[in-house]
Amino acid sequence: MSDTLVQLHSEWIPAANSTEIEPARPRAIRLAGVDLVLWRDGGGRIHAWHDRCPHRGAPLCAGSVATAVDVRDGAVVLGAPNATVRCPWHKWEFDIQTGRALSDERLRVRRYDVQMRGDEIVVSLGRPTGH
Ligand code: FES
Repeated sequence: MSDTLVQLHSEWIPAANSTEIEPARPRAIRLAGVDLVLWRDGGGRIHAWHDRCPHRGAPLCAGSVATAVDVRDGAVVLGAPNATVRCPWHKWEFDIQTGRALSDERLRVRRYDVQMRGDEIVVSLGRPTGH
């Protein structure tokens, strides 16, 4: 990796304006050569994930932000509102806290640290969150 790329990956990089990230609508961006999907959860918090599903490689930006649905003891149980990303290809869902697939916890989406500076979203590509 070149010195320039090492430096970029250790800094906070402006990614987008928060007004560009609509609730429940993932948005693709390319940041320093890395494909990311930015999305806003039900609490309004912005997340930056690698824009590639760990199952078969679908672009998560073409998916949706969803509310997990589970069945426990015969009853339908809803998760936190808009707290998962649903892949567009096979509809697997990934947890907001861990990036893990709800159906197979061995698979996880790479997540990146996000900070807000006013309305500006800045992302650190240095070390993915949870890895
Ligand atoms: S490619 Fe994402 S669930 Fe299959």
